[in-house]
Amino acid sequence: MAQLIPKDFIDNLLEKSNIVDIISNYIKLEKKGNDYWSRCPFHSEKTSSFSVSENKQFFYCFGCGAKGNSIGFIMDHSNKTYPEAIETIANFLSIEIPRDKEATKIYESKKVIQNSLGDTKKIFESNLKNSTKAISYLKQRNISGETAKLFGIGYAEDDFQSLNKKLINKYTEENLLNAGLIVKKNSNSYDKFRDRIMFPIHDTTGNIIAFGGRILNDDKEKPAAKYMNSPETSLFSKKRVLYNLHQAKKYKESKNFLYIVEGYMDVIALHQANIENVVATLGTAVTEENLTQCFKYTREIICCFDGDKAGEKAAWQGVENIMKVIKDGNVISFVFLPDNNDPDNIIEKGGKKLWEQHVEKKVSIEEFIYNKFSKESDLKTAVGKTQYIQKVETLLDKLQAKILKRILSDSLKDKVGAKYGPKQENVKSPSKFFSPKTTSPLQKSILILMHHPDINIEENLINDSRIENNTGVILLKSIISLIKENPDINMGRIIENFRDEKRNYNSLEKISRVPIADYEHPSKELHACIYLTIRNHLREKLKDIDPSKLKEYSAAQSEIREIEEKSKNF
Ligand code: UTP
Ligand code: MN
Repeated sequence: MAQLIPKDFIDNLLEKSNIVDIISNYIKLEKKGNDYWSRCPFHSEKTSSFSVSENKQFFYCFGCGAKGNSIGFIMDHSNKTYPEAIETIANFLSIEIPRDKEATKIYESKKVIQNSLGDTKKIFESNLKNSTKAISYLKQRNISGETAKLFGIGYAEDDFQSLNKKLINKYTEENLLNAGLIVKKNSNSYDKFRDRIMFPIHDTTGNIIAFGGRILNDDKEKPAAKYMNSPETSLFSKKRVLYNLHQAKKYKESKNFLYIVEGYMDVIALHQANIENVVATLGTAVTEENLTQCFKYTREIICCFDGDKAGEKAAWQGVENIMKVIKDGNVISFVFLPDNNDPDNIIEKGGKKLWEQHVEKKVSIEEFIYNKFSKESDLKTAVGKTQYIQKVETLLDKLQAKILKRILSDSLKDKVGAKYGPKQENVKSPSKFFSPKTTSPLQKSILILMHHPDINIEENLINDSRIENNTGVILLKSIISLIKENPDINMGRIIENFRDEKRNYNSLEKISRVPIADYEHPSKELHACIYLTIRNHLREKLKDIDPSKLKEYSAAQSEIREIEEKSKNF
């Protein structure tokens, strides 16, 4: 069958796929410098000499010399044949392989559509250069020439036959109809987009798949939809696509978080204000597919909604979609802009600074759920509380992420003073997705304590004068006393107790997202972490001691050794 897979399909597949994503499905890669590294899966080694280059879309092992592209990797790693490896990659990308004549024909016709869209983009761009009206519209919207170029913004002429005339030598009427560029009424076909500013829409790999077009003026004489998108075609489904994801994913900030906004102009305005990690839905609520796609590239999604009722409704639809796709370690939050504001005019009013002020007010998914359900039921009554709890349970039922489910369930129910239903589920393997890590032993000790509030921490140790000024230790101590007052407390409640102490709350939330290992002796682990905190403190102090003061220096060194010994006893 292999010979039936068209060669340029395979070419295209490699162009669409990213070797880093593919290899990450098999081994854990770590980014260092420009490349990704790991211990080599093809020979046994203690250090990492296996490198994967995203630029080159190639792997190379400096130890054993193994090398190749994504297909080669899958063949060698999983002992697969060439067509099997291609199939694997196509599956990762949810792309159908054109195996038979019929499928090959479909594939070819998609390519024709793609080419016609590419040619159209060039025509639109050149129209823009020649239209003072379109240029002055973009100026009035503060879009610079550079930005227009980057986003491939163009102009569709006020003419029913412009594209038709320019493309008819290269494409058939059927091609252009299939591409959604022209429409046919009775026996006449004419350009779909006329007198509009045109925004090309791309898939994640940067292939153009559709257009969005905006009218230049709100003309009361000729009312028209403000925005018009390409119709659904074999390449384009508006529910699936996020505007600008192909560019946004390239920016470093996107690994931490991605904004999802509502409009093309919002993405563009934010980008121009140097906020590049932004994508937009295409006039729909955030869909499951949108989220799954974004979580491939980021850890946190910040959904931003314009200040209107529709915004809140759309947000809620988003939450329901979120439940099905969120994994432990993923974070999602919401920004609601003030009435009659969207990101575009926020940037216009106050630039990046004002935008960030609004982003600071983001609400977590938990707060958002609580706000919604608590408004819908009267929580002062038992009936209201029951309704509330039922709603929480129904909603969380869809949630796959076990740790998050427990935290949300506990904390949402605790807000109305209910005891918790779901049993603690055993969570062994952390998420395959990005799992945040605690950075210090102290954070780890807090994490362990939040998961195991019944641990008895040695008084002497936690009160050790060497760490008494450490803010983390102070936080740890307040958690300990909170547990003393409420012996049956749990993580959700512990965190909730710090809600008013912004800094502590944020740190606890952050720590709580870290998947915890399945320790055999959590108490020992926790105590060891506190010893390590003392050791780290001593190490810092050692740096300030002049090594020529031998006595003082070696005393400090032996103090460190002593602590290290003690930590090992745990
Ligand atoms: P908005 O009306 O909020 O547009 O619609 P906007 O981004 O603020 O546009 P400007 O600033 O007036 O130019 C948000 C998104 O909803 C879709 C488009 O994708 C738009 O970007 N939309 C809106 C449509 O598809 N059709 C419409 O008629 C209006
Ligand atoms: Mn706007």
